[in-house]
Amino acid sequence: MKRLLALPALWALALPMAFTAPDGAALYVEKTCVACHGAKANKPLLPNYPKIAGQSAAYAEQQMKDIKSGARANAQAAAMKGIMHLVDDAEIKTLAGWLETLK
Ligand code: HEC
Repeated sequence: MKRLLALPALWALALPMAFTAPDGAALYVEKTCVACHGAKANKPLLPNYPKIAGQSAAYAEQQMKDIKSGARANAQAAAMKGIMHLVDDAEIKTLAGWLETLK
C-alpha cells in the first residue's frame, strides 16, 4: 500500500522535471554532441577532437560558452561552433554537470 501511494508522488516530481530540465544524457544525444564526442564522451570521432568524459564542469561550461561566442576559436573549435546555436546557457550548464559525472 505504501508503495502504491509513493508512485504517483514520484511521477508528480518527475514529470515537471522532464519538461523543464532535460537531463544531460538526453541533451547530449538530442543536441548531436554524441556524433563528435562519442557515446560515452571518451571516444571522439577524430583523434584531434577532445575526450570530455570526467572533465570538470566549471571548465567544460566555460569552454562551451567560449566556443559558442567565438572567444575560443583555436584548432578544431569551428567544427563545434556550428552546432552551438542549439544550446542555451542553462543547457550548457546541464551538459557540463553531466559530463563531469562520466568516467
Ligand atoms: C561537429 C563536431 C562537434 C559537435 C557536434 C560537438 N563538439 Fe564539442 N568539440 C568538438 C571539437 C573539435 C572540440 C575541440 C575544439 C578545439 O580543437 O579547440 C570540442 C570541444 C568541446 C569541449 C571543450 C573540451 C576541452 O577540453 O576544452 C567541450 C566541453 C565540448 N566540446 C562539449 C560538447 C557538447 C556538450 C556538445 C553538444 C552540445 C558538443 N561538444 C558538440 C567537436 C564537436
